[in-house]
Amino acid sequence: MAILLPGGAGYIGAHTAVELLNSGKEIVIIDNFSNSKKEVLESIKQITGKDFKFYEMDYRNRQKLEKVFEENKIEAVLNFAGYKAVGESVQKPLEYYDNNIYGALVLLETMKKYNVKKFIFSSSATVYGDPKVIPITEECKTGETTNPYGTTKLFIEQILKDTYNSDNSWDICILRYFNPVGAHESGLIGEEPQGIPNNLMPYIVRVAAGILPELSIFGNDYDTPDGTGVRDYIHVVDLAKGHVLALDKLDKEKQGLYIYNLGTGTGYSVLDMVKSFEKATGKKVAYKIAPRRAGDIAKCYADPKKAREELGWKAEKTLDDMCKDSWNYISKHKN
Ligand code: NAD
Ligand code: UFG
Repeated sequence: MAILLPGGAGYIGAHTAVELLNSGKEIVIIDNFSNSKKEVLESIKQITGKDFKFYEMDYRNRQKLEKVFEENKIEAVLNFAGYKAVGESVQKPLEYYDNNIYGALVLLETMKKYNVKKFIFSSSATVYGDPKVIPITEECKTGETTNPYGTTKLFIEQILKDTYNSDNSWDICILRYFNPVGAHESGLIGEEPQGIPNNLMPYIVRVAAGILPELSIFGNDYDTPDGTGVRDYIHVVDLAKGHVLALDKLDKEKQGLYIYNLGTGTGYSVLDMVKSFEKATGKKVAYKIAPRRAGDIAKCYADPKKAREELGWKAEKTLDDMCKDSWNYISKHKN
């Protein structure tokens, strides 16, 4: 029996593939490399010493997807495929709704056809919009997303709830990630955004590596201790381990729909991140204060208690690890 990973060549999918293989699971990856590279597959094999099946395809291609289910005994699906750039989603909403929502529908319909009903979904803290209560628990209100990307996450969560309500034999876990950063300690897999990065850590490492001249800090007049935005940064390997435990939970418990925040519970400001990065790596990060970025919120961090109590999951890696591992990856891949 194998676990299917659409989007498994991407940043979070590849790290999760490593953890699944290391825990003895069989996996099948499908990816169209719209935001990843073929070499990642070899890196996963190199890190784990294990092999797996791979299909280069679009997960929206129903015929090809059915073939994957025909050719493999799939027991569960962890979906990482989709588009994720907030700004781009405002420019290209139809592409985002198509890839994220239509893709999820094709996947769920195919799973239903082949009677595979275990599903783990990569959601995001973005579904909480501008949170009224911090730290954020899973019971906090969702909605009022500020961009089409966030809205795709919200809609897919609703589709999953409706699917479970219509048929309680589904076994679904929604994982709401906070801010994933870092890379595998081997430096073989990591985050590789195309073009100029939108997210903070990929930007910081490129400034430190001399690829970009300076970081713009978007606003220093927020209601936070130093005025810059506060987020819950989580090491991608911790996040990946959360998926293995979520899968264990679905295997052990009776069928249900479960929702967990995956964050550390600690918020760091943009300036904290710059200082921690400089301390961890000995590299200077030039920065300037720039105007606020549209759609940004002041602070966002998780209450991770539910995941700790119900999954036995806790983020173990420190901010120092996140900075060192991000730097190690870029140092090995800057060319
Ligand atoms: P990523 O872009 O690195 O990985 C996505 C993978 O899916 C890529 O390999 C891409 O080539 C593939 N893909 C995209 N469309 C496809 C299609 N139609 N058919 C087949 N493959 C396709 O992104 P990631 O950071 O690994 O994110 C994984 C999931 O987690 C996404 O759903 C994302 O929205 C969600 N998420 C990410 C973050 C983050 O900050 N990285 C935060 C919260 C949630
Ligand atoms: N920031 C800067 N300069 C930059 C980039 C970011 O100052 O060049 C600041 C932002 O203003 C914010 C913080 O750094 O205060 C973090 O910004 P990111 O873009 O790294 O992350 P976001 O919290 O905005 O969003 C990320 C993902 C979303 C996801 C969300 C919650 O991009 O997809 O985390 O999981 F929904």
